[in-house]
Amino acid sequence: MSQSEPTLEVAASAAVAKIASISTIEALETLRVSWLGKQGRITDSMKKLGKIAPDQRKAEGARINAAKQQLIRSIGEQRAKIEAAALQQRLDSERVDVTLPGRGESVGTQHPLTKTLERIVDIFGRLGYVAASGPEIEDDWHNFEALNFPPDHPARAMHDTFYFPDGRLLRTHTSPVQIRAMIGQKPPLRVVAAGRVYRSDSDQTHSPMFHQVEGFVVGEDISFADLKGTLAEFVKAFFERDVEMRFRPSFFPFTEPSAEVDIRWGDRWLEVLGCGMVHPNVLRNCEIDPERYTGFAFGMGVERLAMLRYEVSDLRSFFDNDWRFLGQFG
Ligand code: DAH
Repeated sequence: MSQSEPTLEVAASAAVAKIASISTIEALETLRVSWLGKQGRITDSMKKLGKIAPDQRKAEGARINAAKQQLIRSIGEQRAKIEAAALQQRLDSERVDVTLPGRGESVGTQHPLTKTLERIVDIFGRLGYVAASGPEIEDDWHNFEALNFPPDHPARAMHDTFYFPDGRLLRTHTSPVQIRAMIGQKPPLRVVAAGRVYRSDSDQTHSPMFHQVEGFVVGEDISFADLKGTLAEFVKAFFERDVEMRFRPSFFPFTEPSAEVDIRWGDRWLEVLGCGMVHPNVLRNCEIDPERYTGFAFGMGVERLAMLRYEVSDLRSFFDNDWRFLGQFG
């Protein structure tokens, strides 16, 4: 045993020298376990203490203990150094340079449909129309019945309606706002209403949710000539130029007579809105006397008008929310 004493001390000194060059916590731990772990060299030497002569045991124990303390101290010191170095590296790499210039910020723009919708409402506002609105979840009476669509009338089939289980529905057009505005108000009335409408329909030119603007006037001596003049004014203001337009006879249950308005676009005629003289039944349903009052009404699709004004060929671009598209309308 006497030869092994210096061996332990020499080996421990060599280990201490090695510890000073270790740069990772993992390598340090491996070394610690090989000396101080359950099967480590120090532990092993301690176990053997019992086998040596009692008179040498104390001195031998002191040697082992001295080597152990030396190892514990240098491992602890090296651990602290490694951790400090790691912390410093993190501080260096994560340092915020507060003197760097900012990255700049992008400012949002109004959605082209919002711009178009507000533009339309604004034009009618200047013509003296008052803004109104109604709920997007409607009942059958406001959306159809009061607008003179009798039950089972084929015109209802033109609207691919989304129904709720309780019989209510997502409004298929903004025309129910006519009813809501006429009930409880006395003519003369001049109202414009914009909002979302819903139909089960989807392709390049149809979206299940789209926007309409509705307008109507009720008063004494309101004629079809007033309607034509108003819409001619509107089309000119909207497109900011003279646009050729034509009124084509059509059918809507809530107007009589009814027409659709086309505008000349290059070499084509494009339909942009529906209109007509408010049907006497509609006035009656709102407790307005059709013998005394007449009115005109019109409804237009905002997407359609935005597509024309901005020359957008696929309506779905409005709903993709691609900033490269939307950013062009700033
Ligand atoms: N509500 C009709 C639709 O959704 C549009 C319309 C046509 C509105 C004629 C009117 C009107 O006010 O007079 O297709």
